[in-house]
Amino acid sequence: MVSPAGTPPRETDRGNEPRPDTTPAVLKFPDRFLWGVATAPTQVEGHVANEWTDFVARDGGTCRIACDSYHRYPEDIEWMTRLGVNACRMGIEWSRLQSSAYAPLNPLELARYCDLLDRLKAADIVPMVVLHHFSNPPWISSSGGWTNPATVPVFVDYATKLVTALRDRVRIWNTFNEPDTYASCTYLLGEFPPFYKWRLASFRSVIRHMAEAHGKICGVIRKSGSGLGPVEVGFSKNWTFFQTFHPASPWDHAIAAISHALFNRFVLHSFLGGNRKEPSTFLGLNYYGRVRFSHFRPLVPVGGLTREALARMGVICDDMFERHPTGMELAVGQLNRQYRLPLYVTEHGSASTDEAFRERDLKENLAALHRAIGGGAEVRGFFYWSLLDNFEWQFGYAKKFGLVAVDFKDEKLPRTMKALGQVYRQVCLENAIQSP
Ligand code: FCB
Repeated sequence: MVSPAGTPPRETDRGNEPRPDTTPAVLKFPDRFLWGVATAPTQVEGHVANEWTDFVARDGGTCRIACDSYHRYPEDIEWMTRLGVNACRMGIEWSRLQSSAYAPLNPLELARYCDLLDRLKAADIVPMVVLHHFSNPPWISSSGGWTNPATVPVFVDYATKLVTALRDRVRIWNTFNEPDTYASCTYLLGEFPPFYKWRLASFRSVIRHMAEAHGKICGVIRKSGSGLGPVEVGFSKNWTFFQTFHPASPWDHAIAAISHALFNRFVLHSFLGGNRKEPSTFLGLNYYGRVRFSHFRPLVPVGGLTREALARMGVICDDMFERHPTGMELAVGQLNRQYRLPLYVTEHGSASTDEAFRERDLKENLAALHRAIGGGAEVRGFFYWSLLDNFEWQFGYAKKFGLVAVDFKDEKLPRTMKALGQVYRQVCLENAIQSP
């Protein structure tokens, strides 16, 4: 049965009931499945001039150099090859390409991205290109950013120029990364520049404007097509389950319901509700886990509690969020049924220095994804967040999401393969996992 738009998939607060174990030992994924890694320009490239340039994160870090992928992308592609991936989800940084509204694209910066895409092609790695990942040129930020309706045609103009320039190099486009996270961290929670709090009207107008731009850009991309084959376009939604820790707490129920309505239902409806679904060819899902509330407090390490204290309560977390692998099956299954769009898991990953923990997390989430596919969900690929340890927005370099480590204390920023990188390589090469 399909539930109404955005209704959370049904489950008990303690997770699913155990089921009889009939799982085969090797879980094969569909043929031509894309196994990729994901990154974002502000988090890896360095040398950007956007609203993050002067931002100092909680650990004192800035994105000014980041992983220096701006210069080291050939080496990063070699790491992708070592990981055995056949795809990568990467962003193109708007502030590098346009110096003012409706300006032509900067030819040198465009040439650098073309070189990157050509090298990916030579390495047999399919790119999914993200147009907007939490950053804007300074001239957009100073004119009200995404609260300003004039940003919509300006961004559509930029996207049209970029899509036209790259139509022979890119077939899969991802318009917006997590508009929900972006709009809430900028206008509700005061975590991202310009650091506003509780501006609900601004939050809603950012989502509406991004959804409008998404629809228009999908039309442009479909019309332009791609020299590489059938073009695909979608946006990426962060799906978080919002639940209560104590089942009988009415206030926590209220806060979970409000969070779900704002971050999940309203955003999905704005982008895909009514005839809005038509322009997208896929839905991107970024899935990390869940947030449970206890006495108004979110039970997650980013809410100020330690992992150990949370574990004593039965709340298993990485350094950021509560893990909830069974939720991967529920979210994928329900979103696929509800919107009847193929899905890509455009981000999943964990932040920890405990590689055994991360390996369990990856395998449990992939097993859940495999069950969703077995249950009929059309899923075309999975992108691990992230290729490299990188600049994690307000948390700086403290959160270690990489399959490949970066030593930020050494100015040469040397990269080394982590244990999880070897595990992921096996998955990519075999198009399968061993049942956890
Ligand atoms: C997602 C973001 C990505 C990264 C991961 C950990 O919400 O899209 O940039 O920060 O979380």
